[in-house]
Amino acid sequence: MTRPKIVAVDGPAGSGKSSICATVCRDLNWSYVNTGALYRAVGLLAGDRGVSLVEGPALSKILHEFADTVRWEHETAKLFVGVEDFTPRLDSVEAGNGASAVAKMASVREALMPHQRKLSLSAPRGAIVDGRDIGTVIFPDADLKIFMTASLEQRAMRRLKQIEKIGGASDFSHDDIMRAIALRDEQDSQRDSAPMRKAEDAILFDTSHMNVEMAIESLKELLRAKGLTK
Ligand code: DC
Repeated sequence: MTRPKIVAVDGPAGSGKSSICATVCRDLNWSYVNTGALYRAVGLLAGDRGVSLVEGPALSKILHEFADTVRWEHETAKLFVGVEDFTPRLDSVEAGNGASAVAKMASVREALMPHQRKLSLSAPRGAIVDGRDIGTVIFPDADLKIFMTASLEQRAMRRLKQIEKIGGASDFSHDDIMRAIALRDEQDSQRDSAPMRKAEDAILFDTSHMNVEMAIESLKELLRAKGLTK
């Protein structure tokens, strides 16, 4: 059986990875694998079971339960743990904070690695896999590696717009959001286990001066230019 084409996309929060990659995959009929969703789901599952996010036997049990019961539907991009659809809860602040805490632990990263590979390799066509260590750890053999980024200021602006959309803008200033994103960047890039960094052979894709539509077209053009799509 031939392996699907794998495009690894790493980069910091707010660089546009998920919306750009999801749309490109939808247009190309490829699978979008959002690996952050797995970290988010582990954090949520631990919360549901009343387990604190520290390394130990209780968290280890959660990882086993997760490994045995997680299911991802490529067609709908839904993530199930057992019979429960976790998708509607994955974007919550609780899920993001939980993900950031569990993502620091080597045991969690190790446990999730085979799932990320299996899920991506089961894509019927190609897969764009987004995360922080996809090009460096999960798929060092990816067909194409991209490091997607944008200035801190732009990323904070985009996040503020997202928050405005859901009606929570009055609680946060642009500066508050910049500080929160800078802190998350630091946590992701300074941790001991698989820190976020650009793979040496990754292409730098800076979306600071692009709107979403431009970035989508530009990514599609890159895939064509690399011979991954027609
Ligand atoms: O991309 P995201 O916001 O869903 O990621 C949530 C957290 O999980 C973030 O702190 C980074 C971490 N993460 C990671 O360490 N490695 C990945 N492959 C994906 C996410």
